[in-house]
Amino acid sequence: MHFSIFLFVLAALSTTIANPGSSLTRTCTISPLGPGRDDTDQVLGAITRCGHGGHTILQEGVFNITRKMTWDLVESKVDLHGYLSFTADIDYWLNPNNTYRVVFIQSQASWFVITGRDFEVDAHSTGGIQGNGQPWWEYFTTHAKADGDGRPISLTVYRAQRGIIRNFAIEAQPFWCNCVAESQSVVYDGMRCNASNANPAFAGTNIVPNTDGINTYRSDNISLLNWDITCGDDCLAIKGNSTNVVAKQIICRGGNGIAFGSLGQYVNLSDIVENVLLEDVQLRRIDASVQPNMQNGIYFKSWDGSVNGVPPTGGGGGTGFVKNITTKNILLDRVAVPLHLYQTNGGHSLDLPSNLTFGGLHFENWTGTALANKIVDIECSVAVGCADIRFSEFNVSAPAGQAPRFICQNVEDVSGLNGPCNATGLP
Ligand SMILES: *[C@@H]1O[C@H](CO)[C@@H](O)[C@H](O)[C@H]1NC(C)=O
Ligand SMILES: *[C@@H]1O[C@H](CO)[C@@H](O)[C@H](O)[C@H]1NC(C)=O
Ligand SMILES: *[C@@H]1O[C@H](CO)[C@@H](O)[C@H](O)[C@H]1NC(C)=O
Ligand SMILES: *[C@@H]1O[C@H](CO)[C@@H](O)[C@H](O)[C@H]1NC(C)=O
Ligand SMILES: *[C@@H]1O[C@H](CO)[C@@H](O)[C@H](O)[C@H]1NC(C)=O
Ligand SMILES: *[C@@H]1O[C@H](CO)[C@@H](O)[C@H](O)[C@H]1NC(C)=O
Ligand SMILES: *[C@@H]1O[C@H](CO)[C@@H](O)[C@H](O)[C@H]1NC(C)=O
Ligand SMILES: *[C@@H]1O[C@H](CO)[C@@H](O)[C@H](O)[C@H]1NC(C)=O
Ligand SMILES: *[C@@H]1O[C@H](CO)[C@@H](O)[C@H](O)[C@H]1NC(C)=O
Ligand SMILES: *[C@@H]1O[C@H](CO)[C@@H](O)[C@H](O)[C@H]1NC(C)=O
Ligand SMILES: *[C@@H]1O[C@H](CO)[C@@H](O)[C@H](O)[C@H]1NC(C)=O
Repeated sequence: MHFSIFLFVLAALSTTIANPGSSLTRTCTISPLGPGRDDTDQVLGAITRCGHGGHTILQEGVFNITRKMTWDLVESKVDLHGYLSFTADIDYWLNPNNTYRVVFIQSQASWFVITGRDFEVDAHSTGGIQGNGQPWWEYFTTHAKADGDGRPISLTVYRAQRGIIRNFAIEAQPFWCNCVAESQSVVYDGMRCNASNANPAFAGTNIVPNTDGINTYRSDNISLLNWDITCGDDCLAIKGNSTNVVAKQIICRGGNGIAFGSLGQYVNLSDIVENVLLEDVQLRRIDASVQPNMQNGIYFKSWDGSVNGVPPTGGGGGTGFVKNITTKNILLDRVAVPLHLYQTNGGHSLDLPSNLTFGGLHFENWTGTALANKIVDIECSVAVGCADIRFSEFNVSAPAGQAPRFICQNVEDVSGLNGPCNATGLP
């Protein structure tokens, strides 16, 4: 048999015995069925056959995915050369029966979940997820939206251990691009998300809210390496019980910046965020006709001490702490507020102050530009204050001719700024 025909037959058989020297014993290879056809069955079939101990290859092209999908991967590799394209049938996906609700915080919905252990998913910078977000973004310019309303997270890694996601692209995420929840030792190396409006009718407005690059929740030992995120909301959002998180070589284009929070939304839970390193991060303002916001550099936020309504939309009164956070080599390009901390999310003026405590926050080697002279605005809860706020080589430029202002409220000890940091930020 001619070798290429032999290969063709192997591929057509789909499930074959691969290189016996490899630890992966089975290989499943599939290609898109083509226009008008539904690929969901064949994708799930390949994962069922090869997802435990095997190797799954999705060839280049577009796989049409029409319903929710879980990949349970154990000691397994997936090469995703093409795109999983989730249909833009908004009414279908908003029906709670048609997505998963595995992400506890704010009861968010997922259409695609990866779970398991000891796996690698490599999208080779040629594949990933096509979220077809444009009609979603437009739909929600005329329909009310709220946390927990069922807009699906594009890629959810849930209850996973020792997984690697590599060179993965997510185009036009309708909602959060990624979420990692209840997982340990997951590495994302190479992640691109891009929520950019293409309809001139919405030029200059942010019609892509909630398109966060990732939310981390109830997860430990998570690495985010080489990320390039274009979005209209949090580039990274480190939420409750995220510990030992490293984010390195991150570019955030537009949106709200990098968030620690929101924390303290659930009165019956404590949110712990500890040992986080953000290194080599750029926050860049982009063409305002595509995305007008570049709000924060890095910001920290908790709900206040009173309970106002219930999650997913309301809440507050939760406890916990944030400590040992290092941010270094941060480059800002025309951000509105470079560094912000507040503990009044979702609050009203007569509410109780938050008991959630921020401390051990270190800011090293920040450079670049801000749009106004309020460079640092740290407003800690009067109930608990903040301790150990350290700056070194912190040099973000205010607009020409303006003296930078550093605001510190209820901060116990702050060091390293080249000016006073107090309640009004004025000398
Ligand atoms: C995806 O599959 C559905 C169901 O078969 C079909 O109606 C639709 O046209 C397909 N979409 C594309 C882009 O091929
Ligand atoms: C969800 O599925 C249940 C059980 O099949 C059904 O009773 C319910 O009407 C469905 N909900 C919607 C919104 O379609
Ligand atoms: C953290 O995750 C990395 C990558 O999966 C792994 O090599 C390392 O052993 C993990 N560390 C701990 C303490 O679990
Ligand atoms: C994001 O997508 C838009 C529209 O397709 C494109 O113009 C832009 O270059 C993309 N950004 C990145 C960083 O790839
Ligand atoms: C905390 O409250 C939420 C509702 O806001 C509930 O779903 C959850 O089960 C509670 N968790 C615990 C540990 O009590
Ligand atoms: C975080 O972990 C602590 C225990 O370490 C637990 O009490 C708390 O409920 C957890 N919070 C969340 C949001 O899961
Ligand atoms: C603080 O966090 C860093 C990671 O940024 C970690 O290497 C270090 O061990 C942590 N320090 C303590 C005292 O836990
Ligand atoms: C904060 O903690 C103090 C001391 O434990 C307690 O008296 C107060 O009620 C707590 N406040 C809130 C809003 O839970
Ligand atoms: C400070 O950060 C910039 C990038 O923002 C980097 O080029 C430079 O080498 C860093 N300086 C030090 C001393 O690490
Ligand atoms: C801060 O940055 C400005 C503009 O880049 C530069 O002129 C100045 O020397 C820097 N100051 C320090 C203390 O590094
Ligand atoms: C701010 O701090 C500076 C230096 O410690 C001090 O001189 C100044 O009076 C303070 N201003 C206000 C408004 O507290």
